[in-house]
Amino acid sequence: MKSLKLAIVAAGLMTVSATASAFSTAPCKACHAIDHDVVGPAWKRVAEKYGSADALAKVFKDGFKVEDRKIASTEPKFKAQAATMTGMFNTYIKGHEDDAAKALFAAVKSGKM
Ligand code: HEC
Repeated sequence: MKSLKLAIVAAGLMTVSATASAFSTAPCKACHAIDHDVVGPAWKRVAEKYGSADALAKVFKDGFKVEDRKIASTEPKFKAQAATMTGMFNTYIKGHEDDAAKALFAAVKSGKM
């Protein structure tokens, strides 16, 4: 019984670590940094505007419409480049909405992407 419990705990831990590494932010680094705007807005600002990973995941799941994007809908400079981010969304984020949103918030929290 004890070993069964341990096995269940071990399986749970494996699931947690698999989820944490499910989404790589490596391709995002080409255009984003944590604390300053590059091609795209600083992820710190993105996290502040959305407030939570759930809120960002919801906008991703709703198809990441430009009018729903908190940055692009309020900052003309970035609205003009929304199509670039739409392409990245279709390539990397679609189908991984929750993991991508969590990865962005985790990056901001840890300061590393
Ligand atoms: C080729 C450059 C490029 C890459 C690569 C890129 N982005 Fe972006 N991103 C942009 C630009 C430009 C904007 C501003 C336009 C916009 O907000 O739609 C942006 C905006 C965003 C926003 C804010 C959307 C809003 O307006 O509220 C999020 C969230 C985001 N990117 C996440 C990511 C993630 C996650 C990745 C990696 C999978 C990524 N980006 C990769 C260029 C890029």
